[in-house]
Amino acid sequence: MSVSANMEQDVLRTLLSEEQLKQRVAELGRQLTEEYRGKDLLLVTVLKGAVVFLADLMRCIDVPAEIDFMVVSSYGAGVKSSGVVKIVKDLDIPLKDRHILIVEDILDSGLTLSYIKQMLENRGPASIRIVTLLDKPARRKADLKADYVGFEVPDDFVIGYGLDYDEKYRNLPYIGVLKPEVYSE
Ligand code: IMP
Ligand code: MG
Repeated sequence: MSVSANMEQDVLRTLLSEEQLKQRVAELGRQLTEEYRGKDLLLVTVLKGAVVFLADLMRCIDVPAEIDFMVVSSYGAGVKSSGVVKIVKDLDIPLKDRHILIVEDILDSGLTLSYIKQMLENRGPASIRIVTLLDKPARRKADLKADYVGFEVPDDFVIGYGLDYDEKYRNLPYIGVLKPEVYSE
């Protein structure tokens, strides 16, 4: 089975509804507003999955904040498990003495993000924390914890609200579990 004309047909079940996402993102926004009041906040997002979360979250954070993006790619199958990545597009904004909040869609093995976090730490920020919408702790390989988590999720392959399978379903407005037959074809 390949991707259907109607995205809904490929969703096994809804994991998080639009309403659940909206409420939790607003809560996170309120919490982050308190944490970063009076601090020079820079939101850093690794493209592409977290763009939907970022777009909603940033409008719920009521302190001045800048945003910046980075694009990375794995070096290849052989080193993928190490999490070592190549920077395809680096951040434009220097991190020195800034309070950095990495905005992530889902924390899975954590290998890529732990590598990126270390790389950004070397640039001398005042602080560096992670907010992830979804956390799959069962799959963690790297010694990495998010500072703020939207939802803990089971080890299912999920799509929507920015998350993709083969670059598709990012525009689904809620988070669903993908039917296994879609990716095991
Ligand atoms: P990690 O380095 O294994 O933590 O990789 C995390 C990345 O894998 C996320 O940013 C997603 O792009 C992708 N990913 C992991 N699990 C899922 C999932 O269930 N659905 C969609 N993408 C996922
Ligand atoms: Mg992805």
